[in-house]
Amino acid sequence: MKLEKEEADYVATLFPEVEDIKQTNLRQKVIEAWIRGWRYGGWKLIEDIPYAPEIPKISNVEHTRAATRLAAEIARILKKDYNPDVNLDFVIAGALLHDVGKTLEYVDCAKEHIVKGPKAGRLIPHSISGVYLAMEVGVPLEVVLIIPHVIGETLVKTLEANIVKYANNLIADAVMKKELGIMQDEYVKKFMKL
Ligand SMILES: [Fe+2]
Repeated sequence: MKLEKEEADYVATLFPEVEDIKQTNLRQKVIEAWIRGWRYGGWKLIEDIPYAPEIPKISNVEHTRAATRLAAEIARILKKDYNPDVNLDFVIAGALLHDVGKTLEYVDCAKEHIVKGPKAGRLIPHSISGVYLAMEVGVPLEVVLIIPHVIGETLVKTLEANIVKYANNLIADAVMKKELGIMQDEYVKKFMKL
């Protein structure tokens, strides 16, 4: 798929952390996956997608950026102090994509923000549809396996995947505590049909 410059610039502006990905090819694929999800989900704007149906005032963009910044910091510390092989590009790309599947899963959350789209994605957890979007644009497997994070769906655990998982969980705990007064575990029990 040829990236339209306007769309690519829009995604890069929403997620400035994408510029921290050193491999140009990977950077473009992260942007492309978001553009695909945006198109397939039929959202007017990517920033209209909520973090969670029960927390509409926090956007998925805001959450993704927070999780990415935290994951990158953890990765930098672990890389410097313990493991120089930690792949920072993979961590940043995986964090930026870990919730891209919400473009498809959450199409029923904010009907006024939807202009078109098949809506079939609402039946698939975002951790799975995110894998689909990433694989469709050719994101490398090391990054793809970071995306299924919700119920531990991956067979192989990597340091990069765990960094994103823990960063995401910490951000989720912080947001849910602030907005709903509960931790993520309680939220999952209460609202998610897993
Ligand atoms: Fe997340």
